[in-house]
Amino acid sequence: MSHKLGIIGFGGMGGFHFNEIRDRLSDFLIVKGVYDVREERQQFAIDNGLIAYGTRESLLNDPEIDMVLVATPNNFHKEISIDALRHGKNVICEKPVTMNSGELREIMAAAKETGKVFTVHQNRRWDRDFRIIKETVDSGIIGKPYMVESRVQGSKRVLQEWRGRKENGGGMIFDWGIHLLDQMMTLDKSKVKEVYCDTFSIFTDEVDDNFKAIIKFESGLNALIQVDTNCFINQPRWHLLCEEGTAEISDWSCRGKIVRLKDENELAWDSVIVYTEAGPTRTMAPRPRETTEEIPLPTVDTDWCEFYKNVTAAIEGKEELKVKPEESLRVMNVIDKLFESAKSGRSITVNI
Ligand SMILES: NC(=O)c1ccc[n+]([C@@H]2O[C@H](COP(=O)([O-])OP(=O)(O)OC[C@H]3O[C@@H](n4cnc5c(N)ncnc54)[C@H](O)[C@@H]3O)[C@@H](O)[C@H]2O)c1
Repeated sequence: MSHKLGIIGFGGMGGFHFNEIRDRLSDFLIVKGVYDVREERQQFAIDNGLIAYGTRESLLNDPEIDMVLVATPNNFHKEISIDALRHGKNVICEKPVTMNSGELREIMAAAKETGKVFTVHQNRRWDRDFRIIKETVDSGIIGKPYMVESRVQGSKRVLQEWRGRKENGGGMIFDWGIHLLDQMMTLDKSKVKEVYCDTFSIFTDEVDDNFKAIIKFESGLNALIQVDTNCFINQPRWHLLCEEGTAEISDWSCRGKIVRLKDENELAWDSVIVYTEAGPTRTMAPRPRETTEEIPLPTVDTDWCEFYKNVTAAIEGKEELKVKPEESLRVMNVIDKLFESAKSGRSITVNI
């Protein structure tokens, strides 16, 4: 069965969806047309063989379109998603789904009322680095995780145009934080019990251009999530401490390693002081290399296209949605608390 998609907001990400669907998914999904408030993007759509609907209403009234993708700046997501659902369309909304959890609840009520499928494009659940970390945890190869650090660090100070404006839902918590938090809450599905967040506005006036958040899970896992936009020497993308070893993924290449103890006996306390270049130490002295072993990270098979395959299968009633609105609601509930913590400068006890 072939589905027809209409895209509302045909900018960078709308264009990305169009290219992906045309090049890789055309056997079951076709982009019929778009609506964008900017004339040049309407023209770009026409130049690429698409219909550029004169109004949002006319796109939503096209009976051939059964799916709508919302890829506008964040503050328009709620209103457009609800409008599309009420026109009988199934809706994929870009991340962050809304500006806060209350707005998402309104969309979920509209989805319930109309019986249509609503989901969020949390495509980074299919990122290879995340999948490797998830497989490392799920396989138990280095035991129970207790601390994980997930960082995305760049130096391009990318908060241009609407991404730098508060009213549009700009800032790094909404731009990248939402992906990292969604990944974290997919990695550990236990309740979030405490959150703390520090935001920085180094090169922006209105929004956070860098932030650091700590999320404590009921399982005992503590997570650090950090996004930097002015960092010239990056820390590892992932650093995972488990009871029986450590895993690391260095960067976008997904290269990294797992290091674990070779022999339980080697845990014996050694009281010798080691003289390092930095100074003497006993407790933190580098351990002899022969007492540990390095093993490769697990290999994983993953593809962003799985998202669309799942959404269309869910519309056809053949599969459960992989990105469920209830999961996004949990993430948005945590996001609300991150902003609250950043404002108050305190950690907040929660039960999400
Ligand atoms: N999932 C991801 O990995 C990912 C990556 C990038 C962006 N995004 C999300 O996609 C959305 C769009 O981001 P972008 O980078 O494409 O921004 P963009 O500025 O490139 O594109 C947004 C487009 O929406 C149009 N627009 C604005 N208001 C509109 C309205 N009311 N109706 C119709 N069109 C309207 C603008 O003219 C523009 O062409 C954001 O929510 C962003 O967070 C997601």
